[in-house]
Amino acid sequence: MQKEVRRRRTFAIISHPDAGKTTLTEKLLLYGGAIHLAGSVKARRAARHATSDWMEMERERGISVTSSALQFEYRGFRINLLDTPGHQDFSEDTYRTLMAADSAVMLLDNRKGVEEQTRKLFEVCRLRSIPIFTFINKCDRVGVSPLQLLDDVEAELGMACAPLTWPVSDGTNFLGVYDRGDRALHLFEKGGDHGASRPPAKVAGLEDPEVEILLGAAATARLREEVELLDMAGAGLDEAAFAAGKVSPTFFGSALTNFGVEPFLRRFLEYAPAPPIRPSSEGPIHPEDERFTAFIFKIQANMDPKHRDRLAFARICSGRYNPGETVTNLRSGKGIRLTEPQQFFGQEREAVETAWPGDVVGIHDRGNLRIGDTLASKGSPAFEAIPPFSPEHFARVQLPDPLRRKHLDKGLKELSEEGAVQVFYQDGVSGPAPIVGAVGTLQFDVLLHRLEHEYGVKARLDPMPYRDARWVEGPDAEIRRVGTALDAALVFDRNDKPLLLFRSEWVRQAAETREKALSFHRMAPE
Ligand code: G4P
Repeated sequence: MQKEVRRRRTFAIISHPDAGKTTLTEKLLLYGGAIHLAGSVKARRAARHATSDWMEMERERGISVTSSALQFEYRGFRINLLDTPGHQDFSEDTYRTLMAADSAVMLLDNRKGVEEQTRKLFEVCRLRSIPIFTFINKCDRVGVSPLQLLDDVEAELGMACAPLTWPVSDGTNFLGVYDRGDRALHLFEKGGDHGASRPPAKVAGLEDPEVEILLGAAATARLREEVELLDMAGAGLDEAAFAAGKVSPTFFGSALTNFGVEPFLRRFLEYAPAPPIRPSSEGPIHPEDERFTAFIFKIQANMDPKHRDRLAFARICSGRYNPGETVTNLRSGKGIRLTEPQQFFGQEREAVETAWPGDVVGIHDRGNLRIGDTLASKGSPAFEAIPPFSPEHFARVQLPDPLRRKHLDKGLKELSEEGAVQVFYQDGVSGPAPIVGAVGTLQFDVLLHRLEHEYGVKARLDPMPYRDARWVEGPDAEIRRVGTALDAALVFDRNDKPLLLFRSEWVRQAAETREKALSFHRMAPE
């Protein structure tokens, strides 16, 4: 058990679309021997579209609607990469997946630095104080100066970067990276074999005359100057600050040409945490605790159109997953028999014999499980709840056929419990038009599709002009006054907690600064 726990690394990549997440994932899988051909992640995607119609729109839009977990072995480690949907239309699933990760890799484009979606995902990582690595990608082409990039990350996110590798350039061409720890130069060969790289040249520090022979005078002078600056700021990594998510070990490379990926992966495995002790209502739970505990972070319906069941994704926190064992769902008190665990390679289901802390398993479910449920083989140690995240898009649900109202209510109730969409009310639960909220608009398309195909309800969504929301706490009269003054809508979630929907992020920020009698929350308060 100890051996299995300690060799596990469960993480997610956070990035903005186009930063190169698919490409990097592919290269990481190559190292794990999990795939043999670069390009096969994309090829697999295309092949799947031909055979499955889980959400025809997935095919129409050519994107992956839901996230999955990829598992592979490398140098004795068992790596679980939680894949987060990277399209513009990302959803709450993307956020929730981060609840199951023990660390994150922030992937940045060297010309763009921190972008909008990176920032949002970073905030969720920060809430959980998980350690974050940074990989600056696309270094095969000239980008923003690396010192400038690091300054930007620090200014934007308030997180310091500790570069463990440093890019070498003569101003126009990328020449390679210098590994500060190993004092090794990894030289870049344009057009080189993707996957195989030359062994790094060991140098005795940057004063070594060998450096100039390898890089030329201009690039050497530049590198020496930059590394001197970095050394003044400190050479090593402050491990306590890193563990708290305050300092990010930073790497430079190019996923496309598979350059700098291997040194990154090696250091990542060295520093990334194994499954940690998790707080619970019964005190901290050690991953090596004998009893089985897990929590549900995602539920997916109809992945396989031939089966009408749902799959609940559980992150194992302690103990061993034993097929056949019955565990308790603490919320309902009901027993759940663990089936053969399903693990995921992309969207292909693969049954495995057992699973350990850090692993993600899919459990067949007929509607008994919800997001945030804790499963345990003994006792009742509830884990921290997975909160609903503040939606960014809102719409009123209009029902052309009023006779279908009951079906609509049932559908909205079930789909919101499943976490597919959030439902709000302005005029009470039986009011004429419920409001739905989502983190990404794709969730709306999924909602309409599922209402029609699973509940027989043809509904329409009228978009509302709100872009930001916060749960609010404070005197009722104050909440109403602020709502009216700022032209914000006051709505209630299904637990009757009030939220204000704002017309822009700017208005919301103004409210938060000015209205001291109220407190605003990005996630639903307890
Ligand atoms: P995503 O999953 O984060 O959205 O990004 P993806 O990997 O699909 O990469 C987005 C684009 O960036 C792709 O180009 C990809 O080839 C390119 N890219 C990824 N890593 C690097 C890199 O290290 N260097 C350079 N120069 N480009 C990189 P595309 O033209 O949009 O797609 P494709 O035709 O190559 O598939």
